Amino acid sequence: MLNLKGRDCISIDDFSKEEIEFIIDVGRQLKRELKMGRYTPLLLGKSLAAIFETPSTRTSISFETGVQQLGGHMLWLDSHRLWVGEAQEEDWHDTIKVISRYCDGIAYRSIGQARQLSAAEYADIPVINASSPVEHPCQAFADAMTMLEKKGDLKNIKVAFVWGYRTANPPAGLTNSTVLMAAKLGFELAVACPEGFDPDMEIFQKAREYADLSGAKISIVRSYEEAVTGADFINVYSWVSPEMFAKGLETHFQGDAEFQKKKEALKDTWCVTKKVVDMAKKDAMVMHCMPISRNTEVTDEVLNSPKSIIFDQAENRLHVQKAIMALTMATTVPF
Ligand code: CP
Repeated sequence: MLNLKGRDCISIDDFSKEEIEFIIDVGRQLKRELKMGRYTPLLLGKSLAAIFETPSTRTSISFETGVQQLGGHMLWLDSHRLWVGEAQEEDWHDTIKVISRYCDGIAYRSIGQARQLSAAEYADIPVINASSPVEHPCQAFADAMTMLEKKGDLKNIKVAFVWGYRTANPPAGLTNSTVLMAAKLGFELAVACPEGFDPDMEIFQKAREYADLSGAKISIVRSYEEAVTGADFINVYSWVSPEMFAKGLETHFQGDAEFQKKKEALKDTWCVTKKVVDMAKKDAMVMHCMPISRNTEVTDEVLNSPKSIIFDQAENRLHVQKAIMALTMATTVPF
């Protein structure tokens, strides 16, 4: 039994292979309990503070529902409730320290990485990264859990993590977290993306070092064919660098005009169609963290086919985040 009490979850790199497998295993146990109608009140009387600086459907709902199923309560701290928000009347660190005196954990979706890291530094309670421009660990945990459920073992699988075109500019966090997840768990990962959309190189190099120990094979390729050939899973996502993500936020997700024009040239090449899926293994499955820009990133034909496991993936956000909250925030855990 591993003890994760009081730990933050900012990066996949915060955890060892054994800890990652443990979190996923607890997520699977909590899922089984829930399916049998049994609630596990491990967070009775505890509170999770939720600070989300960008919109969220899956992450916010799964955290709120999850903490409630564990007997706890979530406080939605939007900008109207924080002096640090629109009013800018309080120091961020003071806000975080005060929240630490009332609550038992913080789920934080940040538009900047520095604030994510400083929240973890100044909080006396666990901070869970609910997506940042650099990492989205909760989604990477849910994706790994989903693949494990489907295959039983990740040792000999190949994942094609492929870029798809969309006009919006989502952050590259999931891409970086997936690179680290592959390196820690030891599966093969081919990231396919156009030039200019590579994952964070510092994270990629670190992952390469871990891969030497775990046996993972991690590569960046420039075509769907190279990534998808022999793949067991095709995980589609659209991402931009933290700099372009920030520009997108300044212009209500429209981004830099010159960048958007350049990106538009990728439209026809970078959409996952049935033809792309047919290059993978016969029983390959298609994933996407959602929200999806349908028929630009990936076609309806693919998303609506039996190969698509996008809703299993979305569901597992709930179970694995319950595991993260229970293991880091509960007074005692029976796992
Ligand atoms: N996948 C994901 O994080 O979805 P939301 O942005 O809706 O939370």
